[in-house]
Amino acid sequence: MPKVMRLKSPGGLDHLVLGEDAAPAPPAHGEIAVRLYASSLNYHDYFVAKGLIPTEDGRIPMSDGAGVVTAIGPGVREFEVGDAVVSTFFPRWLSGEPDMGKLSLVPGDRSDGYARELVVTPHTHFTHAPRGYSHSEAATLTCAGLTAWRALIVEGGIKAGDSVLVQGTGGVSIFALQFAKACGASVIATSSSDTKLERLKAMGADHLINYRKTPDWGAAARVFTKGRGVDHVVEIGGAGTLGQSIKACRNGGHISLIGVLAGFQGDVATAAIMAQQIRLIGITVGSREQQLQMIRAIEVNGIRPVIDRDFPLADLAEAFRHQESGAHFGKITLSIT
Ligand SMILES: NC(=O)c1ccc[n+]([C@@H]2O[C@H](COP(=O)([O-])OP(=O)(O)OC[C@H]3O[C@@H](n4cnc5c(N)ncnc54)[C@H](OP(=O)(O)O)[C@@H]3O)[C@@H](O)[C@H]2O)c1
Repeated sequence: MPKVMRLKSPGGLDHLVLGEDAAPAPPAHGEIAVRLYASSLNYHDYFVAKGLIPTEDGRIPMSDGAGVVTAIGPGVREFEVGDAVVSTFFPRWLSGEPDMGKLSLVPGDRSDGYARELVVTPHTHFTHAPRGYSHSEAATLTCAGLTAWRALIVEGGIKAGDSVLVQGTGGVSIFALQFAKACGASVIATSSSDTKLERLKAMGADHLINYRKTPDWGAAARVFTKGRGVDHVVEIGGAGTLGQSIKACRNGGHISLIGVLAGFQGDVATAAIMAQQIRLIGITVGSREQQLQMIRAIEVNGIRPVIDRDFPLADLAEAFRHQESGAHFGKITLSIT
């Protein structure tokens, strides 16, 4: 019987329970069966697991899933048995602009996710994984990879020579660094740790700031651009960091507001946003079409995700505790063997 991890009510890391499910029915028209081998941890999954985003009792957590197609239903032409695949974050957002309907389904939150061995699902809930990727690598793309891609490429319209500010060394920010470098941009990277800053440098970051030692890091970033300001900010802190990001941004620059690591709400320097004519956009991950575009770019550029540590499915709670500690650099993954 396939293994499955469920989150019992009311949530909390001690309420993650590993069990077994009956094998699902074979795929119907338009569906595929996927043997999942990996997932990856995101802040969103952590919030669900902690019970901070209420879900159904017994919800299967984790938005990210990667594995191999083991059966296809009638009418499926995009996949064959044996294909390596990766899940999409918003299975109903195939392409075009987002709307409430397209954003209404999120595996691991509003529907069952991928902390399990086997899923039978509409084939559009997955895309092909990048050629040559391990399942763990592929599983990092669904949420963190696509969010960074959308921030810089889709919404930012980044071009060679642009400057990009990335914050910290979590999953989204490391992908943003990699995509920015692949586009020929220069990167200003921040971290709370000098050791992590050295690793960012080795990955190609052009300028480094320790945001703990330099609380006015927005002004410091500006100095690195000779006073012009950065073209793009990948804002993962939210309320506690947006002020510095605005300070760092050039006139007419762009900020993708992605995260809440430094607070959910706070004062906003509206006058500065106006005066600097900043394009500020809030984003939540991206569409299936954007995922396909990202994967094409990853294959052409040979980008590989940075995986900090891998945990077995049974140790999901321990994996979340590792994420909670903030010690990680890049992605934490889950192996489903
Ligand atoms: N909107 C979306 O679609 C979307 C998608 C994915 C993630 N997110 C959000 O984006 C944020 C980051 O997600 P993630 O998965 O990349 O998280 P993560 O991997 O857990 O990143 C944690 C890292 O962020 C850095 N950090 C924490 N507080 C910071 C601060 N005040 N200033 C600068 N860096 C700080 C730290 O890096 P150092 O240790 O180097 O200091 C920390 O290790 C979360 O809020 C998450 O909910 C949103």
